[in-house]
Amino acid sequence: MSEVLIQVENIVKNYISGTETLHILKGVSLNISRGEAVAVTGQSGSGKSTLLNILGGLDRTDSGTVTVGETEITGLSESSLSAYRSRRVGFIFQFHYLLKDFTALENVMLPGYIAGMKKKDALEKARALLSDVRLDDRLQHFPSQLSGGERQRVAVARSMVNDPDMILADEPTGNLDPDNSAMVAELLYAEAEKWGKTLIVVTHDENVACRAGIRYTLESGVLV
Ligand SMILES: Nc1ncnc2c1ncn2[C@@H]1O[C@H](COP(=O)(O)OP(=O)(O)O)[C@@H](O)[C@H]1O
Ligand SMILES: [Mg+2]
Repeated sequence: MSEVLIQVENIVKNYISGTETLHILKGVSLNISRGEAVAVTGQSGSGKSTLLNILGGLDRTDSGTVTVGETEITGLSESSLSAYRSRRVGFIFQFHYLLKDFTALENVMLPGYIAGMKKKDALEKARALLSDVRLDDRLQHFPSQLSGGERQRVAVARSMVNDPDMILADEPTGNLDPDNSAMVAELLYAEAEKWGKTLIVVTHDENVACRAGIRYTLESGVLV
């Protein structure tokens, strides 16, 4: 039996909006094994980003627990949670969030460098990752000199540089045309598999979701 990496138990998340309480997650539970690829679909506003942000330590639950390996992240202080994000999670969002004054190579190596890798090692890893996403000839390009698909491929490479336990991708192809979506999705799943990363993808795009080994839909606050 494979090792359970992420254990989600009965998480509840509400947002207060004016006088109204929005019940977004109403008791979500799931287990994800190390190395699995999981897709989460669901209507806009169903709480997909909220769930992903809770797994990544960007948001907090109102109740319930999330345990990653031996660590219950729902019990961590802000500073421990920040260390968790930096060391154990790779994020990819709909918008690339590349730093505009840094080259593709620098954008990929920086999170590694910030998390404590030696500069030489971070650069070497960044080069290898950018080669995997077929950008060997774009290392010195700035984000403004890259196409939308290329920028998102840089973001895929960047998410892996820290050797995180999991890659969390929130609508990673949401801004791309169908051809670029297909390429980014293929590279994302291939990279996760190559490096043995647990991958959780939130997406509207059936062509992205269908590549996952395990699929869930968020519906009325619970996973089905
Ligand atoms: N900080 C917030 N304050 C109030 N409501 C929020 C906040 N963040 C998200 N919501 C609401 O929670 C619901 C779920 O949001 P989200 O997780 O972003 O959905 P999805 O990613 O599935 O489209 C939406 O109705 C959204 O408006
Ligand atoms: Mg969302």
